[in-house]
Amino acid sequence: MDLELSGKIVVVTGAGRGHGESMSLALAQAGATVAVLDLDGESARRVSDEIVRRGGASSAHQIDVTDRAAVETAMQGIRSQFGRIDVLINNACAAIRRIPFLEMEAAEWDQVIAVNLRGAFNCSQMAGRIMKEQGGGRMINISSFAAGLPAAGFAAYSASKAGLEALSKIVAGELGAFGVTAVYVRPGVVETEFTKPGHAGEVGEKMRSVIASGRFGTTEELARVICFLASPLSEYVNGGPITVDGGKYVCQF
Ligand SMILES: NC(=O)c1ccc[n+]([C@@H]2O[C@H](COP(=O)([O-])OP(=O)(O)OC[C@H]3O[C@@H](n4cnc5c(N)ncnc54)[C@H](O)[C@@H]3O)[C@@H](O)[C@H]2O)c1
Repeated sequence: MDLELSGKIVVVTGAGRGHGESMSLALAQAGATVAVLDLDGESARRVSDEIVRRGGASSAHQIDVTDRAAVETAMQGIRSQFGRIDVLINNACAAIRRIPFLEMEAAEWDQVIAVNLRGAFNCSQMAGRIMKEQGGGRMINISSFAAGLPAAGFAAYSASKAGLEALSKIVAGELGAFGVTAVYVRPGVVETEFTKPGHAGEVGEKMRSVIASGRFGTTEELARVICFLASPLSEYVNGGPITVDGGKYVCQF
């Protein structure tokens, strides 16, 4: 099936590794031009170079999504270079750890909210203005199962993802009149550098036991769904959640 992504300009944040890397490679393979944004400039360049090595089109940007001025400069630069921004994928995520709520320092809370929520606000607003001007666009926000059913010890992360889902609904509702749609996606458990440490031993077994498919997912499985959501073929999918979790908690055992 042709996903009609050829010539589409897609911006992916946190694209230097993990889910962001996989979705960037898959989108480029499907024909999109991918702007790879990451705090870690070296990994952004590595992913962008890999896209070009495989015959695709890409640019790399060392960006901290919490820096509004830098985000605005990057979005304007991408528009100047490629002519438009068709799709924004808010995927960047702060490093997190399990910590009891009563022990969490405010600085740690602020950092997670700043990257996961204010970063998405910055990117959505700057890209949203461009999308409004060009007459349409698509935003895809990478949320988490934790937005709906938090795990103990992840207060800031869960709150940031619940906030991101509310932001998606606001963008879909307010910008719908300008042809802009916004979906939010809840990946289940996927083994990446970000999650691997939490999957060891008994905890990992418990996590697997509530997934109907009986296994954790892969970044490629999420990337395939993201390609469809970035495609005009899914334009009537608006809001969410879109779950990609192997059927986590679909049934009581
Ligand atoms: N892996 C999972 O099991 C899982 C489950 C549910 C949701 N998610 C979500 O998927 C997304 C990607 O997760 P991942 O596992 O690939 O994470 P990851 O930690 O592997 O990658 C996150 C990327 O974001 C970048 N980043 C961090 N702070 C940034 C900033 N201020 N500005 C720009 N970039 C920044 C990092 O450098 C990194 O490349 C996240 O939003 C995460 O919440 C992941």
